[in-house]
Amino acid sequence: MACLKASPGRRKGENYVSEQISSRRAQMILFAKNFVKHPLMLGSLIPSSRFLIRKLLGRIDWANTDLIVEYGPGVGTITVELLKHMRPEAKLVVIETNRDFVDFLQETVSDPRLHVVHGSAADVERLLAERELGQADYVISGIPFSTLPAGVGEAVAQATHDVLKPQGRFLVYQFSPAVLQYLEPVFGHIERGGEMRNVPPARLFFCAPRMEAETPDVNVPKAAS
Ligand SMILES: C[S@@+](CC[C@H](N)C(=O)[O-])C[C@H]1O[C@@H](n2cnc3c(N)ncnc32)[C@H](O)[C@@H]1O
Repeated sequence: MACLKASPGRRKGENYVSEQISSRRAQMILFAKNFVKHPLMLGSLIPSSRFLIRKLLGRIDWANTDLIVEYGPGVGTITVELLKHMRPEAKLVVIETNRDFVDFLQETVSDPRLHVVHGSAADVERLLAERELGQADYVISGIPFSTLPAGVGEAVAQATHDVLKPQGRFLVYQFSPAVLQYLEPVFGHIERGGEMRNVPPARLFFCAPRMEAETPDVNVPKAAS
């Protein structure tokens, strides 16, 4: 379903393996160049490992998934794997602040289920509403919460909670536990994990939305005594 777009000079029968290698090389170079330009926005020098991706995607119930949102797809390392497993009717929205990565994804990944959006994860509610895509089954995020501008971490956590279906999950991979300060006040349950076979080793947080009954009564007036 997902495929690399044909390049103009591509010959019939050209070696598929060498195409894969040069495509991987192009991804690594683009990613590293952007790390040099925006180290705090990227948070790592190379894309996620296949071990990390396998662990994240192992959490997805593919048969019952209509909508997945990915924050910070970068060069599409996770995006392409998601598209390989998703049902033909499912949709994937990837939201990326970096224009180079948005252009790269639009030029290289061709799949009618994929919506590539240039924007911030903090605006996920508006971005989904504009496309009439409804609530998400999964949101996947590797955006570097520990170095985001002030207020963005809180906004992303709350907006993500609000776009998830009640049975949905926020699947987060990070290189530091700092993200917990944003996740804990918002999500009802957070399961922790890790993957050492990644550079750098990654921490995983699988977050379930708060149930109605768990919502703090902050807006409920106190009964007169
Ligand atoms: C660690 S990289 C992850 C790249 C890729 N998903 C991977 O696993 O290899 C973090 C990505 O988040 C993007 N990013 C940072 N802040 C963002 C935000 N507020 N909204 C959307 N993307 C953001 C960066 O541009 C970068 O592409």
